[in-house]
Amino acid sequence: MNSDITIAGGVMDRRFSIAPMMDWTDRHCRFFHRLLTRCTLLYTEMITTGAVIHGDRARLLASDPAEQPVALQLGGCDPRTLAECAAIAEGFGFGEINLNVGCPSDRVQEGRFGACLMAEPALVGDCVAAMKAKVRIPVTVKCRIGIDDQDPEVALEALTAAVEGASVDALIVHARKAWLEGLSPRENREVPPLDYGRVYRLKAAHPRLPIVLNGGIATVEQAAEHLRHLDGVMMGRAAYQEPWRLLAVDPQLLGVPAPFPDLNAAAMALIPYIERELARGVRLHAITRHVLGLFRGVPGARAFRRHLATEAVKPGADAATFRAALALLDGARASMQTAAA
Ligand SMILES: Cc1cc2nc3c(=O)[nH]c(=O)nc-3n(C[C@H](O)[C@H](O)[C@H](O)COP(=O)(O)O)c2cc1C
Repeated sequence: MNSDITIAGGVMDRRFSIAPMMDWTDRHCRFFHRLLTRCTLLYTEMITTGAVIHGDRARLLASDPAEQPVALQLGGCDPRTLAECAAIAEGFGFGEINLNVGCPSDRVQEGRFGACLMAEPALVGDCVAAMKAKVRIPVTVKCRIGIDDQDPEVALEALTAAVEGASVDALIVHARKAWLEGLSPRENREVPPLDYGRVYRLKAAHPRLPIVLNGGIATVEQAAEHLRHLDGVMMGRAAYQEPWRLLAVDPQLLGVPAPFPDLNAAAMALIPYIERELARGVRLHAITRHVLGLFRGVPGARAFRRHLATEAVKPGADAATFRAALALLDGARASMQTAAA
């Protein structure tokens, strides 16, 4: 399998990644996830080329060096603008540029990018080629197996051939179609059926292209099973809603020790970050909203969640609020939720 990609300054390990998720995988979320897994490849939320060019770039592209490796996901369809944005992102220290060819939202469709690009493989190839010409870091694409009445055997093959011809560094496939009319983005993550077999066949047909599977992967054990057939797996909702799972990724999937021996230690390591960010004007809830699912199954987890949900939003909430939430847990049991669990 071709999971290791050499990048400027190091090697990109894409065996396990956490999906780009709007409103979820912001910089605070990524910093927190990094405390649970050192080697996972993290993704930003999708950022449109228009926002990178015209928006508050310093804020939109901000990240902490400790988060790396992080891939920036771009939404757009103009090769020149995408190339310009890719170069800007490389300058901000991102380790990979990823093009969104999977988002079905109305807003994205109006911009003619996201999932509707599944119908324009040649244009996607041009976008990849233009970005590759501008940056030294890997350029990847995240797509669906098709849209609407497309035949996935044909549509996914056409897209793959186009991006492989443009020397894409990896293709991430969300293993279901997007239905562009009549379904909300949320329904488009649940209603169209998953077809892992289609992605396995794609890998067999393109053995040299790193291919990463996304969609419906709920546990580290399932990820390990897919890794026997593919170069990488990308986990979305399960990673965000049940972040405790991430502590097992490094030791169980990637063969390296976890960053912390247990969930408690990882949570404590967030405190200096909270103090630093609050001193810069960030509100506690902006950070702790990502942590709510960390202790699922530990006695006191509900009280921990409730305390953060009600207290962290109040003016003046600070690291002491977070410590108080941690104190509601059964400390001994929380410490038993180890990386090996
Ligand atoms: C809240 C939310 C926001 C999302 N935003 C994006 C996005 O910005 N870009 C993208 O490519 N996919 C986005 N997705 C889709 C995920 O990246 C992923 O493809 C999808 O959730 C399927 O993976 P899963 O079953 O592991 O969650 C989003 C998903 C969720 C739940």
